[in-house]
Amino acid sequence: MRKLLFILLLLSTSAGLRAEDGHQLWLRKQQAVPVKVVSSATNSPVVAMAKQELQQGWRGKAGASVSLTLKKDKAIKYDGFRLIPNGVQATTEAGLLYGVFEMLRRQQTGQAVSEGLLNPSYEHRLLNHWDNPDGSVERGYAGQSIFWRKDNALVTTAEDKTRWQQYARANASVGINGAVINNVNASQLILTPEYLVRVKAIADAFRPYGVKVYLAVKFTSPALLGGLKTSDPLDPAVAAWWQSKTKEIYKLVPDFGGFLVKASSEGQPGPQDYGRTHADGANMLADAVKPYGGMVMWRAFVYSPNDKDRAKQAYNEFVPLDGKFRDNVIIQVKNGPVDFQPREPFSPLFGALKKTSVMPEFQITQEYLGHAIDLVFLSTMWEECLQSDTYQAGTGSTVARCTDGSVYPQKHTAMAGVSNVGLDTNWTGHDFAQANWYAFGRLAWNNSLKSAQIADEWLKLTFYGATAPQSAAPKYAADWNTNFLAPVKQMMLDSRETAVNYSMPLGLHHIMSATRGHYGPGPWWAPPKMRADWTPPYYHQADSTGVGFNRTRTGSNAVSQYHEPLASQLNDPQTCPDEYLLWFHHLPWDFRMKSGHTLWEELGYHYDKGVQQVRQFQKVWDKAQPYVDAERFAVVQYKLRSQSGNAVQWKDACLLYFQQFSHMPLPAAIEPPA
Ligand code: GCU
Repeated sequence: MRKLLFILLLLSTSAGLRAEDGHQLWLRKQQAVPVKVVSSATNSPVVAMAKQELQQGWRGKAGASVSLTLKKDKAIKYDGFRLIPNGVQATTEAGLLYGVFEMLRRQQTGQAVSEGLLNPSYEHRLLNHWDNPDGSVERGYAGQSIFWRKDNALVTTAEDKTRWQQYARANASVGINGAVINNVNASQLILTPEYLVRVKAIADAFRPYGVKVYLAVKFTSPALLGGLKTSDPLDPAVAAWWQSKTKEIYKLVPDFGGFLVKASSEGQPGPQDYGRTHADGANMLADAVKPYGGMVMWRAFVYSPNDKDRAKQAYNEFVPLDGKFRDNVIIQVKNGPVDFQPREPFSPLFGALKKTSVMPEFQITQEYLGHAIDLVFLSTMWEECLQSDTYQAGTGSTVARCTDGSVYPQKHTAMAGVSNVGLDTNWTGHDFAQANWYAFGRLAWNNSLKSAQIADEWLKLTFYGATAPQSAAPKYAADWNTNFLAPVKQMMLDSRETAVNYSMPLGLHHIMSATRGHYGPGPWWAPPKMRADWTPPYYHQADSTGVGFNRTRTGSNAVSQYHEPLASQLNDPQTCPDEYLLWFHHLPWDFRMKSGHTLWEELGYHYDKGVQQVRQFQKVWDKAQPYVDAERFAVVQYKLRSQSGNAVQWKDACLLYFQQFSHMPLPAAIEPPA
């Protein structure tokens, strides 16, 4: 049986062999009824798509007439729209398309298509692809790149085009309107004329869906490609090189979105190599794209081996530059101050940069959350970050409001997610990882949406009627709601906390295996001469006196980068939330927790709870069998079994490892590792 499942799993990841359903994502073919579309807009490619979607997906009144109207309306922001009686009204063509997708989503999920104004929270809603020109994907778990490949790299085939269109359509259906199509660890190759031809082909395929192409660029491109002696941003020849390169790009791609830059970060070149600041570098590029309406997304993911606390560096480097950036620069900040860990407090840069546009960057691909093996619905994690109060402009200055223009008059607003898409036939490796792509889009459109609603929508769109005709009797709907929707939704909503429990509970972070590509535990990993800030012991600091990173005022003082009253709350172990305890404190093993347990016991309970929770997920999924096609059922079941093993490994490895410092027995309720 095990063997059979393994073979099934192998088949599932090789392109072309998956069930149609997995391939279609949340956009399954509908049993549509006729609809008449009336449009005042000229029949541009975007409007044509909107019409086509309506005709393919309409499940309202048969023969209804639906209007798509372009009209001036001050209340409509960006590419938002209004649902009006029997139609959509917008100020942009993309708005019409989003309005259509909204109507169809409501029909398909059984909600009323009521009237209302729907504006996006952010102007730019982007996926970042960490795809390399050779087709590999950094931290990708769903196969090779959909954009690049090694052989015949630059020949655009009909299959390429179809895939890019399907991808863009999926993005448009959740309001994603931009994609950075190459890795932030950028190769200069991307800016060569040969590659730009393919960039143009991709942009052409995206355009009818309102998705713009952006490129990640290597800061030393002027020297590497242009033969210049330097890439110093203040050198006029360097600025001129970027201007002429930008012109070349816009000639090919008139609606090109702009540049994403990882500079002076993790060994990537940047302005600091020339004694310049992030602002000098970003502004030089911003000036180049400005005449065309382009943006520069400049990442704040910076840290160096010399820093005593990596979590502090971005704030230290960027806060002094507040107000020094051009208005078409946005600082792209990871949700937490370290690196996409299963749980981090929000980055203190949110709200602290008051005169500079700032955008959140989330990671959709599950680098630290179980790759495409573990089932982890990330929406709750993003919701937690977005709803965190920074207090930077008084109570209620949430990360969401500090980045969407509600608190500060940002010229531009945006949100980015590091994509989990690859060539796998189900696009994302794990069938449930599709939900993370979906959730990212939904939250970028509306940053106050609740994860429960997102999971509900996704499950209905993806699975309702998978094993029965969609028009099935009311009995099917009732059974489906009780036996599938409710338990599976709960599993999704619990899954992130579960992953935290079995991997890095109570504020532990960065203790994963380095040798297995960040999958599984590795709290001991610290080879001689390795950069300390790349090793887990730097982060957990376990010793006989206790465990955790002291970031309080007596330690690295990272707490002071947060605004009061948060700084004081985090600084005191009695008031610091358990979730962040060992992020901010080094505490004795017998520290008394709010629960009454010692810290050591509490750690044990969390690890054990995580294991129990995954076992519970397995039971939930086993019962879901009647409602899922055989293929997806078996693969998810197999993956849950692997996840269960992973959880046990985490628990055993971490408790055994930490026990050599705590010298305490495992709590009685927890079985000792086998
Ligand atoms: C992490 C990740 C890298 C990535 C980096 C980044 O460190 O492991 O693969 O390049 O983040 O976000 O730039």
